[in-house]
Amino acid sequence: MSTPNQSPSPTLAIIGCGKMGTAILNGLLDTQPTTTTTTTNNNPSLPRTFIATTRSPTSLQRLKTHFQATTTTSTSPTLTILPSTSNPSAILTADIILLACDPTDIPSLLTDPDIQTSLLTNISTSTTSNPFPRPKLLISIAAGWTTTALLSLLPKPTPTHTQKNIHIIRTLPNIAAEIAQSITAIEIPSPGTVLPEDVDLAEEMFQKIGRTVRVRPEQMDTFTVLGGSTPAFVGVFVEALVDGAVAVGFGREEGRRVVAQVLRGVGDLLLGGEHPALLKERGTSPGGCTMGGLMVLEEGGLRGLVARAVREGVTVAGEMGREDGKLVNGTRN
Ligand SMILES: NC(=O)c1ccc[n+]([C@@H]2O[C@H](COP(=O)([O-])OP(=O)(O)OC[C@H]3O[C@@H](n4cnc5c(N)ncnc54)[C@H](OP(=O)(O)O)[C@@H]3O)[C@@H](O)[C@H]2O)c1
Repeated sequence: MSTPNQSPSPTLAIIGCGKMGTAILNGLLDTQPTTTTTTTNNNPSLPRTFIATTRSPTSLQRLKTHFQATTTTSTSPTLTILPSTSNPSAILTADIILLACDPTDIPSLLTDPDIQTSLLTNISTSTTSNPFPRPKLLISIAAGWTTTALLSLLPKPTPTHTQKNIHIIRTLPNIAAEIAQSITAIEIPSPGTVLPEDVDLAEEMFQKIGRTVRVRPEQMDTFTVLGGSTPAFVGVFVEALVDGAVAVGFGREEGRRVVAQVLRGVGDLLLGGEHPALLKERGTSPGGCTMGGLMVLEEGGLRGLVARAVREGVTVAGEMGREDGKLVNGTRN
């Protein structure tokens, strides 16, 4: 329901509503305002009508069970859950399409003729009260898929359907979206390719599952590693910390809980502006145990190793989604 100063809300179709789609939908269904709202009254409000599609009967049932409370109410927000055979009708109805299936499923999805027709059908030509009177907005969360690569799969313009009917925004959330603590990159689009208010809208959508950062296209591979791979890197570091503690008699479960709370506290300190070097300086005293442990990490080349892991990840991220399908994680010279 829109207020007098607010535009009516658009319809969002989540195509491939798996783990990440579900996390985003959970956030968007939450009616609590975000703390960092950027959308102005000139912009469309967040979607309040949702369509979610998924492929297998098992996933479909999982979604229906998870969102039972929303699908059985007739008041806003409304959610319709459909099988992937209904992708064309879901996309036709939607103003915004969230592309949330696996990266490997994208070529077959976007080159499907019925889906292409739906993507290119601007609903503003067929209804008089269109809440989103402009081209369909395709928001991708697929890792490794650049905007250019996505565009290359879409049909070439025809006299009746022009490619200008689709605007694409590339984004990348991370695994903490599941607890509304993602850091999501919103790629800054090339000038003139996307309306500025649609970038604001995408940003506000992702602020429902955490924080956002606007990233230039050439920085997306680096963000993919920093935002996307860091949880796995930290996971390995946590395992090593806990193994060390277990080796000298500490309980494994207890050790994991201790380190998790430490990470939460350190994360908040860093977000509050604490410099990482100060975390080290404030935690070390002459002849102390932290300094002793740090000496071992420095001797082992931890900094160089971690930075190299980031650089290797960025190299691989830049080669993902290549058309020749060649695996890029082989050994290098
Ligand atoms: N998970 C993360 O931490 C993370 C982080 C950043 C970005 N991403 C991106 O988010 C996307 C989804 O990842 P995810 O972890 O949520 O994967 P996921 O749980 O496997 O979800 C993908 C969903 O897409 C469905 N699907 C596949 N083909 C479809 C089609 N043609 N039409 C409709 N639905 C279809 C799958 O259905 P079935 O299960 O029935 O096959 C599944 O429910 C990926 O592109 C990934 O790169 C994920």
